Amino acid sequence: MSDFRKFTLSLMAAFGVPWLLLIIIPVMKYQRIQPIPYNKEVDGVEGYYPPTGIHRQGQLVYAREGCVQCHSQMIRPAQLALDGWRKGWGQDQESRPAAPVRSNTMRDYLQEPYAFLGAQRIGPDLANAGWRFTDRLDVHTQLYAPRSKDEWSVMPSFKHLYIVRKQQGPVASNALKLTGKYAPKKGYEVIPTPEAEALVDYVLSLKKDYPVPGVTAALAAAGEAAKK
Ligand code: HEC
Repeated sequence: MSDFRKFTLSLMAAFGVPWLLLIIIPVMKYQRIQPIPYNKEVDGVEGYYPPTGIHRQGQLVYAREGCVQCHSQMIRPAQLALDGWRKGWGQDQESRPAAPVRSNTMRDYLQEPYAFLGAQRIGPDLANAGWRFTDRLDVHTQLYAPRSKDEWSVMPSFKHLYIVRKQQGPVASNALKLTGKYAPKKGYEVIPTPEAEALVDYVLSLKKDYPVPGVTAALAAAGEAAKK
């Protein structure tokens, strides 16, 4: 065999084998997975996992606006079980028990045409953002005037998804509640466009901590035991 042939073949193997192992086989595996049913006795819930999908229309706005540049949507698996630091992550809301947050699994992204895992966390991880807001107007305020909540925020304002219009009779129910320098001129109000509404629906649909059949029940039990 000539050196050139040897060289080309080794080059093909050097790129081909990792490509097969890291891309082709995982993609084939992913395409074959299906939602799995819960076992009420073990998991404490009924139906299928993952239970509901994300808000797709809003995901398109999320993609277009480049939110993924700053936000991830993936809680990494714990290494060496050192996951104490993740306790309660994404659950700083009264309606949620402060149980350990689980890392994400492949199935969490099953109904998403694109999974926006993200590459860096300039802003907080949004995998469970849906739990952190009880009022959708709060999410709108975050998008319209991020610095009205945190003066130091580096999140840009997405003002172009809102319209400022003259008040028409009583204040509209979907008008943003803004104060101080972020409030519109007197007699005006800030109203979300349908795109902003879809984006907020999407953020509110991000709840990737459903119990994993057969797994999270045990994790939750361990959390309970640790508290006692
Ligand atoms: C330049 C980086 C950047 C971009 C782009 C960005 N964000 Fe943020 N985001 C941040 C930072 C930093 C914070 C934390 C500070 C704050 O609350 O404003 C944040 C906070 C948030 C929060 C509140 C999270 C929480 O748990 O309280 C939400 C929701 C959010 N961003 C959604 C979005 C959406 C949706 C987009 C796209 C339309 C977006 N962000 C684009 C940086 C960014």
